Amino acid sequence: MSKRQDAISRRDFIKGVIVGGVAVSSSGYLLRGAVALAQTGVAERLITLNVNGQQRRVDVMRQETLAWTLRYKLGLTGTKLGCDRAECGACTVLVDDVPLYACSMLSHSVRGRRVQTVEGLAAADGTLHPVQQAVVDEQGFQCAFCMSGFIMSAVGFLKTNPNPSRHELAQGLSGNLCRCQDYDKILTSMMRGAELMRKG
Ligand code: FES
Ligand code: FES
Repeated sequence: MSKRQDAISRRDFIKGVIVGGVAVSSSGYLLRGAVALAQTGVAERLITLNVNGQQRRVDVMRQETLAWTLRYKLGLTGTKLGCDRAECGACTVLVDDVPLYACSMLSHSVRGRRVQTVEGLAAADGTLHPVQQAVVDEQGFQCAFCMSGFIMSAVGFLKTNPNPSRHELAQGLSGNLCRCQDYDKILTSMMRGAELMRKG
């Protein structure tokens, strides 16, 4: 494959993950988790969650995490599950505009609050959020598993500090880990995202 073709296909891949998060999955892991949770046999209860501006009715178990509900009940697989214990940030979503680990929140606890996932960032006409566009422009990630978590953390951080220094933004994203250790390029992407957001 030529270098040009490689760049284009990689760009398409990254874009697919940014918008829907569907290009990266670990089906074996998911299936094992689903079976384990189903075996607990705890009754579900119908609740309404505000996700990406929509009222979503969903049956959830009392001990069910928001990450689980988003991924396996609502089909929003852009929210990744890495560690599943508040260490990696792959599951980061915004709750009332604040970046939080969805793996460590119970779905019941976000009733009446606004949840935003990576699927809810792009405009209705498909225009990417500036931070998403910056990732496409800068090609900031390798495997991209950590990407949606970083994007959501950056979007949340930039709401409170729209013009950060590189060091400030690095600190703001310090709750997100990248196994590929692509931090320098990720930070460059996020700084570019901040710039695009300021340009409006
Ligand atoms: S999956 Fe939630 S912090 Fe790692
Ligand atoms: S790009 Fe692979 S985990 Fe971050």
